[in-house]
Amino acid sequence: MRKALALTLAAAMALSLAACGGTTSSESTAASGGTSEAAASSEATEATDDTTAEAGTVANKDKPLIWFNRQPSNSTTGELDQAALSFNDNTYYVGFDANQGAELQGQMVADYIAAHADTIDRNGDGVIGYVLAIGDIGHNDSIARTRGVRSALGTAVEGDNGIVSDPVGTNTDGTATAVQDGTIEAGGQTFTVRELASQEMKNSAGATWDAATAGNAINTWAASFGDEIDIVVSNNDGMGMSMFNGWSQANGVPTFGYDANADAVAAIANGYGGTISQHADVQAYLTLRLIRNALDGVDINTGISTPDDAGNVLSEDVYYYDEEARSYYALNVAVTADNYTEFTDSTKTYAPVSNQLDATAHPEKSVWLDIYNAADNFLSATYQPLLENYDDLLNLNVEYIGGDGQTEANITNRLSNPSAYDAFAINMVKTDNAASYTSLLSQ
Ligand code: BGC
Repeated sequence: MRKALALTLAAAMALSLAACGGTTSSESTAASGGTSEAAASSEATEATDDTTAEAGTVANKDKPLIWFNRQPSNSTTGELDQAALSFNDNTYYVGFDANQGAELQGQMVADYIAAHADTIDRNGDGVIGYVLAIGDIGHNDSIARTRGVRSALGTAVEGDNGIVSDPVGTNTDGTATAVQDGTIEAGGQTFTVRELASQEMKNSAGATWDAATAGNAINTWAASFGDEIDIVVSNNDGMGMSMFNGWSQANGVPTFGYDANADAVAAIANGYGGTISQHADVQAYLTLRLIRNALDGVDINTGISTPDDAGNVLSEDVYYYDEEARSYYALNVAVTADNYTEFTDSTKTYAPVSNQLDATAHPEKSVWLDIYNAADNFLSATYQPLLENYDDLLNLNVEYIGGDGQTEANITNRLSNPSAYDAFAINMVKTDNAASYTSLLSQ
């Protein structure tokens, strides 16, 4: 199973590399030569200085800065914020391949329909109706997932900027313009596929990807057209599980999410349709590893594409580096009834990069890191616990700041003394807001 997946992923990776002009790891190594130099010279300065002033010897604007989970970009056009991504020589983004994952999610739902053709159309009207929970209409990952599902189910329509990803509100009559009715052949039958409803799950205070809002939405939808809903799809597991627990499990309606949070993986045994692992175990490692390397003044891909002194190394079937975007992307894996038992512990570090670094060669450094929303299911239940496991292995003393998911100031207010830290890892509330952070580091 693992082998087959790895092969599919390798193929997907080759495709996405070709598509986005990505680089091989060796190119990225070459490109980061300046990086190591900068860090090495700062180390040299430190060595001659009093150790108490350690963090103070490097200007804040020159300290390693890793963006993660929310890629600095224009929330309307999706265009990357290159100024933020190349703020200094030690600035990178860590995320996952949103398009490859979105395609997998769409395919997972289509495969489920093919395998359950005889039972999927609950009211036998020839229409497979689905509802879709959208996380954040201005977040690239959310947009990609909406597009991936629509294109796999034949409901996508092309707009000026590619497949339309807008929510439709309610579309029980099939007249919405943001989607179209699709058709799927399954079990010798031709079904119409309709996006009955979709909505951005944003609460009144402004928090996006909001699980409670999704729970309310499914109740509203179910009350007015419940027997038409054959499938529930969500941009993430937090919202998906809220809908599953609130309605779909009791009604036997397969529900699909994203993130492979432990509760969602466990729910597959009880009818949750499936989820996608965005390899948070690899992302959390990369987020802290890039900081470790920059502070050690070694090649930025140490312990990534090449083994470090403890034997940590990642293989190319789990991530790639896109030089132009200065971004490291983990690759996704579908988690379904076929393989979910391999994914039950979502907070376990990835075995090939789980070796402890030696504290003499890699002395403790302090890192400021924020999670944009302390209530986000994926970040709080999966990503942060992983970071906490890796910070020990990498000898990093990380201060974790949990935001309210609504205002950037709630987080930036707590970055009042950047000089006290050696490096920063930032998860923005809104992808447009990188300057709120870089301006603090530039002062
Ligand atoms: C995750 C979501 C999460 C979001 C936060 C996405 O990558 O899949 O679950 O809410 O990031 O930005």
